[in-house]
Amino acid sequence: MQQLIGSDILTLAEFTPQTLAAFLERASAQKRAAKTAAAFRPLAGRSVAIIMLKPSLRTRVSFEIAVTKLGATPVILGEGSAFSRGESVRDTMKVLERYVDCIVLRTFAQSQLEEVAACASIPVINALSDGYHPCQVLADLLTIQEKKGKLAGVRAAYLGDGNNMANTLLIGAALAGMNLTVGCPEGSDPLPEAVEVARAIARATGARLEIVRDPHSAVAGADVVITDTWTSMGEEAEHDMRVQRFAPFRVDAALMSGAAPGAIFMHCLPAHRGEEVTDEVIDSPASVVYDEAENRLHAQKALLTMVLG
Ligand code: CP
Repeated sequence: MQQLIGSDILTLAEFTPQTLAAFLERASAQKRAAKTAAAFRPLAGRSVAIIMLKPSLRTRVSFEIAVTKLGATPVILGEGSAFSRGESVRDTMKVLERYVDCIVLRTFAQSQLEEVAACASIPVINALSDGYHPCQVLADLLTIQEKKGKLAGVRAAYLGDGNNMANTLLIGAALAGMNLTVGCPEGSDPLPEAVEVARAIARATGARLEIVRDPHSAVAGADVVITDTWTSMGEEAEHDMRVQRFAPFRVDAALMSGAAPGAIFMHCLPAHRGEEVTDEVIDSPASVVYDEAENRLHAQKALLTMVLG
């Protein structure tokens, strides 16, 4: 099996179906053990820089706690630290890699992550970019496996903007052999390169991936219904236009009623209640959003142990 030790995790396509299965097994085992066993500190003496160039609650806190619980030292850097004062990416990385063993970076352009990864000799983990959100999708796959008992053959629907979550869910579903229908308006499709990568993986795993325009046909018979904000960070000026554009894709009780019996609702949060999801759905028994948020911690602990060895 290809190992992830020393790998950058920039899109999720760094995984194979085998490494994803190993990751899920490890995350589940570590989560179970964390509730009962003594401290597990395989990364004692290591350190991880967590660089947040966009706001974050879940990712920032769960990474800091994950690093600490694994015995390593987290170093949190925000605006005004790395990449400020005109310092080059290369100089920044060449300095940071003398201090820390891994970089966790939340930023805007995927190209900046790629530049950071190219300059750094230590692993770089994408903590969200405009293109991809691999850590969130790892937590989502862990959550779906817990709730549905499997991933292969599960039918998932993603509604709304073809954004970083849609791009990464396509790759994650393909790796897991999970069927995913993305329902989004024309002009808001996932990135063509993400679709291409996901379809290539799906040819091997048998996952069925579709992009449709009708929200009702997207959720018909789905075991899992997923949505995300319609206005991602950096798109605030387009908010009113986006609310109008995506309104037919709002996950409300009527839309959920077309999903399979026992379907779950997922959202990576923060939610814009009344926009992409109604209170009735996100507060319903079908909603697993807080379990999903908790799994950010367990997923990132497993990821860090796989990447740092
Ligand atoms: N889901 C997620 O990435 O949350 P934060 O933006 O709060 O980190």
